[in-house]
Amino acid sequence: MPLSRSLSMSSLSGLPLWEEDDLPVENLLLFEVAWEVTNKVGGIYTVIQTKAKITVDEWGENFFMMGPYYEHNFKTQVEQCDPPIAAIKVAMDSLINSGCQVYFGRWLIEGSPYVILFDIGSAAWNLDRWKGDLWDACSIGLPYHDREANDSLILGSLIAWFFKEVAEELKCYDDTSCYFWSFDSFNLDKEAGERQIYHRCCLERAAVHCAHVFTTVSQITAVEANHMLHRNPDVVTPNGLNVKKFSAMHEFQNLHSTNKTQIQEFVRGHFYGHLDFNLEKTLFFFIAGRYEFSNKGADIFLESLSRLNYLLRVHKSDVTVVAFFIMPAKTNNFNVETLKGQAVRKQLWDTAQFAKEKFGKRLYEALLRGEIPDMNKILDRDDFTIMKRAIFATQRHTLPPVTTHNMLDDSTDQILANVRRIGLFNSRNDRVKIIFHPEFLSSTSPLLPMDYEEFVRGCHLGVFPSYYEPWGYTPGECTVMGIPSVTTNLSGFGCFMEEHVSDPAAYGIYIVDRRFRSADESCNQLTKFLFSFCQQSRRQRIIQRNRTERLSDLLDWRYLGRFYMHARHLALSRSFPDKFKMDPTATPPTEGFRYPRPPSVPPSPSASLHSTPHHSDEEDEEEDEEPYDEDDEAERDRQNIKVPFTLAPVPRRKKKQP
Ligand code: UDP
Ligand code: G6P
Repeated sequence: MPLSRSLSMSSLSGLPLWEEDDLPVENLLLFEVAWEVTNKVGGIYTVIQTKAKITVDEWGENFFMMGPYYEHNFKTQVEQCDPPIAAIKVAMDSLINSGCQVYFGRWLIEGSPYVILFDIGSAAWNLDRWKGDLWDACSIGLPYHDREANDSLILGSLIAWFFKEVAEELKCYDDTSCYFWSFDSFNLDKEAGERQIYHRCCLERAAVHCAHVFTTVSQITAVEANHMLHRNPDVVTPNGLNVKKFSAMHEFQNLHSTNKTQIQEFVRGHFYGHLDFNLEKTLFFFIAGRYEFSNKGADIFLESLSRLNYLLRVHKSDVTVVAFFIMPAKTNNFNVETLKGQAVRKQLWDTAQFAKEKFGKRLYEALLRGEIPDMNKILDRDDFTIMKRAIFATQRHTLPPVTTHNMLDDSTDQILANVRRIGLFNSRNDRVKIIFHPEFLSSTSPLLPMDYEEFVRGCHLGVFPSYYEPWGYTPGECTVMGIPSVTTNLSGFGCFMEEHVSDPAAYGIYIVDRRFRSADESCNQLTKFLFSFCQQSRRQRIIQRNRTERLSDLLDWRYLGRFYMHARHLALSRSFPDKFKMDPTATPPTEGFRYPRPPSVPPSPSASLHSTPHHSDEEDEEEDEEPYDEDDEAERDRQNIKVPFTLAPVPRRKKKQP
């Protein structure tokens, strides 16, 4: 996802300098293999798609991404072309002549990396043979019914075959022999066995122990790998994003405003006939991602929303919260009630335009005659009839629906079951409303025509209280768009922020403790975060968004891509120690860096938790609607943070063919 930001800074100032290692990439080829190359499933797609540019900057024409071929993806995302290197063409032809389809092109994303895509179906006839090879090599058997594992084996085998052909063509065998892990020392993993994924665990362990360099995305997964796979990662490679800078300073604030208007329009339609809450005092919260109810923390989010509803009601708050759940489930199109809501809104809009035009025309004619028209007569009976009919159409006998689609598993769906349990049915008295959109967002939707980035920008708070999350892109995406978010200390992103930012809450990163607290305590903590967020004034929210957005540099691939470089250099130095020298104990030089607290926040961290962001009494007295002011606290903070580091961008290199 291309993301944008408004700071016009010439470099990633404030972040540690990384010395450039001199790697002769012109003599090397880099292949990156992933199931989600041109094939969107979830967060991995975001990793590889956003990281491509800095890798192309470093490796140029010598970088190739590899993955499965799907006709639709290829047609819509790839521009077919010939491989720039003869050895690759020869290797592809060799596979093609044996009946397997292989495709080459440029992936139409930033950086335009080359992709080599393998048609799994065309090679499926080899499956039994390759299963035999796998068994002979490492005694892992794949069951007939595990389609995903079988497809991975086909893709892996095709790629191994391809590499063999390329290596033969280039005559550049790696003389370090690959070794397989001794499976005799494994005990049967009971949990994996019970879930019928023992073979998958074995594949994973074998891969980890065969790798020259083993990386994980976060400290959380490092601990997990050490425990489950018995190998500590050599390098932790956090996920980054492509952060783009706007030329106008506060463009991201404007984007928040325009996209919020679009969400407000949707909400007007969805709640027609029940619009007894003030949209200017309505906050939009959301959770989004793959539908893993407990892993993604949708369970504690719902419970906290129920508690928040109670708090807002007893405090007689005039704030309303609309909480969106964007998690794809099995559906059978939009439901009629939801579509009707938008149709009713449109009709009211058209009626208002019609009356406005008539009113304007008559007023104009009266003024031309030199008269002030009688306001009671300027619209006639027919006009009132039309308006009354439009208002009658807004009457409804049901509550605004919780879900926007017809759910195939309505009665067993986890979100809906819990909404029924906590009783948040969008009734008038409730201060918290729920909208479950069981499909990823798209700008072509007839209901909510916004893409995900636009939607995120229009919201006030992303809530991602995950229980299991190797990294978790969604809160990071919010951060670079200047939208505050909730994360946890069981997510890679949350741990990274805890490690690298002093007082993350002051920057609009609320980290729920799900590691050392009970579920109920975590829920209370989340409720507290949500409630204190609802108590902020508009001005405080604006200041907080500015702070949030300032963390973008920390998540930029131009900074985080360096961990990947480090891992690649390490792999070369281990595979070819004579050619590539590297200190075996070297660590990435960014370790230990911490982003300082905003200077305008009082020194006690607890203070910033409760009413972030802090502001002066004078600010309190100012009008709530006050637009962003260049002199405000955020700007002062920006200038006050003086970090003694600068980070030069990843250098671009001239490429030569090997
Ligand atoms: N996402 C999307 N459209 C949506 C909702 C989510 O494209 O309507 C993307 C989001 O931008 C993010 C990814 O889905 O990049 C989810 O990644 P995350 O790392 O949070 O979760 P994972 O899928 O890896 O568990
Ligand atoms: C941005 C705009 C402001 C607008 C504000 C609304 O900062 O630049 O003009 O008032 O958003 O913020 P809110 O948190 O109330 O959506």
